[in-house]
Amino acid sequence: MKPIRFALGLGLALAAAPALAQQAPVTASSPDGAVSVAVTIDGDGRAAYAVTRKGKQIIAPSRLGFLFTDEAKIDRRLTITGQEVRDFDETWTQPWGEWANIRNRYREFKVHLKETTALARVFTVTFRLYEDGVGFRYEFPQQPNMAKTNIADELTEFAFAQDGTAWWKPAFLWNREEYLYNKTPLSAVSTADTPVTIKLADGTHVALHEAALVDYSGMAVTRTEGTTLRANLTPGAGEAKVRKTGGWSTPWRTLIIADDAPGIYHSHLMLNLNEPNKLGDMSWFKPGKFAGVWWNMIKGEWSWARGPKHGATNANVKKYIDFAAANGVPDVLVEGWNVGWDGDWFGNGWDMDFAKPTEDFDVKALAAYARKKGVRLIGHHETGGAATHYDNQLDKAFKFAADNGYMVVKTGYVTDAGQIERVDADGRKYREWHQGQWMTNHFVRVAEAAAKYKIAFDSHEPVKGTGLQRTYPNWVAREGMRGMEYNAWLGGKNPPEHEANLVFTRMLEGPMDFTPGVLSLKGAENSDLLSTVAKQLALYVVIYSPVQMLADTPENYAKFPKEMKFIRDVPTDWQETRVLNGEIGDYVTIARKERGGEGWYVGAVGDENAHTVSFKLDFLTAGKRYKAEIYRDGDDADYRTDKRHSIAIESKVLTSADSLTLRIAPGGGFAIRLVPAK
Ligand code: NOJ
Ligand code: CA
Repeated sequence: MKPIRFALGLGLALAAAPALAQQAPVTASSPDGAVSVAVTIDGDGRAAYAVTRKGKQIIAPSRLGFLFTDEAKIDRRLTITGQEVRDFDETWTQPWGEWANIRNRYREFKVHLKETTALARVFTVTFRLYEDGVGFRYEFPQQPNMAKTNIADELTEFAFAQDGTAWWKPAFLWNREEYLYNKTPLSAVSTADTPVTIKLADGTHVALHEAALVDYSGMAVTRTEGTTLRANLTPGAGEAKVRKTGGWSTPWRTLIIADDAPGIYHSHLMLNLNEPNKLGDMSWFKPGKFAGVWWNMIKGEWSWARGPKHGATNANVKKYIDFAAANGVPDVLVEGWNVGWDGDWFGNGWDMDFAKPTEDFDVKALAAYARKKGVRLIGHHETGGAATHYDNQLDKAFKFAADNGYMVVKTGYVTDAGQIERVDADGRKYREWHQGQWMTNHFVRVAEAAAKYKIAFDSHEPVKGTGLQRTYPNWVAREGMRGMEYNAWLGGKNPPEHEANLVFTRMLEGPMDFTPGVLSLKGAENSDLLSTVAKQLALYVVIYSPVQMLADTPENYAKFPKEMKFIRDVPTDWQETRVLNGEIGDYVTIARKERGGEGWYVGAVGDENAHTVSFKLDFLTAGKRYKAEIYRDGDDADYRTDKRHSIAIESKVLTSADSLTLRIAPGGGFAIRLVPAK
């Protein structure tokens, strides 16, 4: 029977739909000519795009389209009905960031498509071509045959023209986005969250990600065959992964392309593809460092819950305020300060009240004590994944924060992937994913509610970063990867290569609340971190966040007065950033110029091997002499031995004509402060 049915089906299809003529490709290039896109229609009417850089194909023809839960897919029988090209060039200023000024220069290329079938659906694929890559999105205008859209999946492909090495983390597993990066051939990737960073066989580096993820679900990618990846959208609560009414568009699918790993980091493509600042004046937000009633909790010595081990007591918080004031640290995070933590809070945030302190946390007295010392408190909102319960108290929670003088709130969504609790106004319950469409909208609600009270926020267990900090500059940091907390735990600490991976993967998403600076190099039960002490200092430069934690305890910091000087000195807001060298997962050196000053800071981290790196200081102002304070691994430093604390601190006078050659110990790094010499 089977072959006959097949023959019959084919016959009907042929009768109903004669083959289309192949259409001539339409093409456009970036303003500098480096990056080009070609859109083609094949004999079945399938649309594909291809990307070349400097004449070399990076993405071979890759299909475009959608599957819907309740309508015919969009994929075959398309025709190009028109194209438009527009050039754009502006420079905009970030209220805070790794670069003060960002140039946004691109050529926009719109390709209009229409189905030749009775549905006759129309859409546009808009490309923005930059000298360092391309972003593109689908735009569907409101139309009669698409009043409501229920997307089962997006069929967008990324057919890499060569194999290479890929750094990627698995998608859709229980621990959300907190997995170590895999390093495999591109042709061995399974299902990966983005960004996926790839070093192609010819050395070209590509980062595949997305920009401006709002009202849509996050895009993971699944390898279909060979070196082709295909979009695999994060599930929603129902059958459809994304639901839309009227006209709609996707986030930007982005490909950053560069000659080397530093070139990937230097791209502003993701930020540029986001909408400008919607919040207006941001001068109320001051980038800076914070201490926190935290490391003792994460190590298990104190508890978030009330009881004999409660961390957020008046006495403990005062100690942290004193420590912050003595070290010029403007903020102090307090976790476990509110009612709701008693019992099992993991995946269960329904008792959390973000305006109700516990009896042993006198918020008014502590806020006044802090204010007297020039310090603010940072509030913590752990939702346990009960996102609707959080939605329902956003206004009161941020009002409470503002009333007590907070500038920043840290949020959290500790529950397994797919277990976010959503309850609609009609009482219906759903389970959502951290990166699903509903949560992308939740985060915008949080940004808007916080902005109303001039509060900035730092979200843990968040949606991936897609540059929305441009639009909502109060979304100052995110976790979204394995941070320092894994080094507190006994179940598998971050390996030495972790941060040299992060720079070229997670950090492409924007600021990370990694929480550096554990100078004791000790986690739970006196366990050793896989790091030297110099590397802990380097992290303040290498891992970017405008709010940067001093993760260790005041008692531990008191034991490292020499190292503390660097932590006190290093700023968290930059005029300019330059990645001086680096190979993904091996080592990286980054130089950053402080905003509003003349100082430069350099940080480098390595992996489990020793490295010697050389770099020119040609970023310094010519003709000026700089005092360099160098914090480097001692000659015998090694993360595997009790020499992990071995550090050499040296001072030199250097100019822009000088170079430096420094050794990074196994598991090590270095940090340098360069300030104009008196
Ligand atoms: C996980 C967060 O990453 C950590 O910083 C926080 O302390 C705990 N959740 C509790 O909310
Ligand atoms: Ca976490």
